[in-house]
Amino acid sequence: MITTIEKLQNYIGQTVTLQGWTDNKRSSKGLFFIILRDGTGRCQCVVDENLVSAEVFENAKKLTQETSLTLTGTVKADERQVGGIEIQVSDLNIVSIAIDYPITKKEHGIEFLMTNRHLWLRSQRQWAIMRIRNTIIYSIHTYFQNEGFVQMDAPIFTGNASEGTSNLFELEYFDKETKAYLSQSGQLYGEAMAMAMGKIYTFGPTFRAEKSKTRRHLSEFWMMEPEMAFYDIFMNMDCIEAMMKHVCKDVLAKNRAELAILERDVTVLENTVNQGFPRLLYDEAVAIIKGEKDVNGKNSITSLEDDLKSIEARIIAVNAEINDRTEKIKTGVIKKQGEINFNQAKIDGFKQELKDLEEQQRNIPMWIASAKNFEYGNDFGGSDETVITRLFDLPIMVYNWPHAVKAFYLKRDPNDSRFARGVDVLAPEGYGEIVGGGERETDLDLLIEKIHEHGLPMEIFEWYLDLRRFGSVPHAGFGLGLERIVTWVCKLPHVREAIPFPRMYGNLMP
Ligand code: 4AD
Ligand code: MG
Repeated sequence: MITTIEKLQNYIGQTVTLQGWTDNKRSSKGLFFIILRDGTGRCQCVVDENLVSAEVFENAKKLTQETSLTLTGTVKADERQVGGIEIQVSDLNIVSIAIDYPITKKEHGIEFLMTNRHLWLRSQRQWAIMRIRNTIIYSIHTYFQNEGFVQMDAPIFTGNASEGTSNLFELEYFDKETKAYLSQSGQLYGEAMAMAMGKIYTFGPTFRAEKSKTRRHLSEFWMMEPEMAFYDIFMNMDCIEAMMKHVCKDVLAKNRAELAILERDVTVLENTVNQGFPRLLYDEAVAIIKGEKDVNGKNSITSLEDDLKSIEARIIAVNAEINDRTEKIKTGVIKKQGEINFNQAKIDGFKQELKDLEEQQRNIPMWIASAKNFEYGNDFGGSDETVITRLFDLPIMVYNWPHAVKAFYLKRDPNDSRFARGVDVLAPEGYGEIVGGGERETDLDLLIEKIHEHGLPMEIFEWYLDLRRFGSVPHAGFGLGLERIVTWVCKLPHVREAIPFPRMYGNLMP
């Protein structure tokens, strides 16, 4: 019977057939230990010379990394193995031999891995990330479907900008005169759809032509954007929080193994499920960034200075380790090949750590400077988000932003016209913005004034203004960046690993 690795627990003691690829192979006298991967998981399969035909043993001998195969064997429970299972192989056939698979078990640089993204996706780490991404997508759908939202799709070709004109991908739409833009956000269409359906959400590809190489930016990403009629900013924040709790709860329930592969400390995800998200006014958030207000006894500036000191101490210690081990190998104090390999692997690990430490050593002084010099009234930049979210161990919501620095469609705060009713959700641990949203302006005159202020062509927004002319109601919504939340949930150093084939400034292949 053909089955998959994730279902093996149901077949203990039975004979099954698996189809997959060789992840790894070890040999010992008369034995091959194959780590088979089939997309659903990994498991150890043992080929014993005494228990199989000469032909099967010969096939096992030929297996190289990524050679595809089918095998048949008995399922045994073995606590020590991945997934608590081992297969005693009785038959094994090669489907296609892989020669010189480029991604080996040694450390590869990120450039190399990115060029081989089509193959890198097969690695255990990427597999774990994609499984979590899948859980998150499904969880977002179940949350909104259970809450009575209707999924509707916004167009990808659009005639107008919604998030400013500086980062539009422009193309010719059938003729040279007609310009179309790739969608920066489905929101404006979402507002129209909410007036028809009450509560809707869109989930689609989104494009931003930002010429910046940061760990947070993609030029093509997936955004989920709900829009709700008769919601104000506070109901919107309740909705964001409930959805994020639901998502983190699902990941914790379904992806423990994947989180373990990524060595993700799950405390922060548990906090997200169990605790209320701190809600900060822009003014409070600015005071925290500038170090004028502490969070749980922690000060933004002094905690960064302390971190810098401990990073510098660690750099000295790691360098000493590297030098010491290198010296011992060079001078022959360490002789046995096994010990040399062990120490070389340690040295490689320390060098990787050193790279990360040195990056932080360069970054922290810049973060300190930008936090100290933050000008009240500005939007937050990446480093401001890093500074404030390092102080928290669950997501925070920052709301009521100076209206001048946010999108034209946000509602002016009725109690204080300096502010707009926007809300950003910032993920903790230095991650920063994963959600942007807010209540929408319903005052037609204010909206027209804003469209002028942003230099946007009025005629293109006439349809949008109709939503205010015909039965306008208070409404709100938000956009969740899928790759941003995946990056944070998995605690990845860069957003590029959160999507199968990342599109970024300067990167289009594979
Ligand atoms: O904050 P943004 O620009 O908000 C909007 O587009 C609103 N129209 C959403 C709404 O209210 N319906 O983008 C929303 C989210 C960000 O918080 C971030 O998670 C993600 O989209 N995002 C990006 N993700 C990856 N790469 C980029 N270049 C991104 N730009 C935005
Ligand atoms: Mg934003």
